[in-house]
Amino acid sequence: MTSISKVGVVGLGLMGSGIAEVCAKAGLDVVAVEYNESAVEAGLARVTSSVDRAVSRGKLDRSAADALLGRLTATTDYSALADRDIVIEAATENEQAKLSIFRALDEAVINPAAILASNTSSIPIARIAAATKRPDRVLGMHFFNPVPVQVLVELIPSLSTSAETLAVVEAFTTESLGKSFIHAQDRAGFVVNALLVPYLLSAVRMLDGGHATKEDIDQGMVQGCAHPMGPLTLLDLVGLDTVKSIADVLFTEYGEAQFTSPPLLSRMVEAGHTGRKSGKGFYDYT
Ligand code: CAA
Repeated sequence: MTSISKVGVVGLGLMGSGIAEVCAKAGLDVVAVEYNESAVEAGLARVTSSVDRAVSRGKLDRSAADALLGRLTATTDYSALADRDIVIEAATENEQAKLSIFRALDEAVINPAAILASNTSSIPIARIAAATKRPDRVLGMHFFNPVPVQVLVELIPSLSTSAETLAVVEAFTTESLGKSFIHAQDRAGFVVNALLVPYLLSAVRMLDGGHATKEDIDQGMVQGCAHPMGPLTLLDLVGLDTVKSIADVLFTEYGEAQFTSPPLLSRMVEAGHTGRKSGKGFYDYT
């Protein structure tokens, strides 16, 4: 069975930087690709700050952190991915963007055994796989935020994914990355987001309807149900734009009212109040 030692990551945003960090921490050689130089720099800074946090929390010693950072390079050039054993795409949750990235990857990644994975939260893997000439070696590999901390990865084979591809990625997830996996069918939202997103949207509706304050909604779920953070704080962490994109895909797939985006969420996204990453969401991070 193919073993994976060279990893590519497309996108060094919230999720991609975490995926790159986890792969480099596992001792793997990681090449990340971003769309321009300032995105490369911002992505590397994101990884460095997360690794520094791990050092300051005593999770990693300084020399291991430096070695981790030394295994990660970032570029704007897709040809740097030519020899990768796996490339994990973690770009923006937009179908057209992902399809064009997979077309580019299919050209750039010339290793014949290479696997192409998408960290999409909701877009059908079959559609992404169909943009390539190797649909048997494409699957969904959905990580959770913050990637260095959350243990789970959802693995999503499409109808075309080979059993060997799935087996290689299962071994990679557990043995190399030290994470757990669950299998999900290639249905919008997979397992976790199909359950989580209606809950998050309900919290926004509750706030919009004046049922409770944002603080009380969050405190209710933290202290009443032992969630590590309340739904509105979690929306800020994940990104309101990301949650809205996922909700839109879920609504298109299932046509159910529970997946409609509440007007307040739409307005906040339109205003650029997308959460922690923009400095403002339901709470202020400036
Ligand atoms: N490497 C290793 N460990 C790290 C780390 C890193 N880079 N950064 C932080 N940590 C560790 C910290 O040391 C800490 O460990 P201890 O508890 O042992 O001290 C732990 O991670 C938590 O970190 P913090 O103390 O900084 O943060 P916190 O205690 O306030 O917890 C949180 C923050 C982890 C985000 C927690 O609130 C949480 O789990 N929230 C829920 C997040 C969630 O639901 N995520 C899923 C979102 S859905 C999604 O992602 C999918 C999608 O498609 C939308």
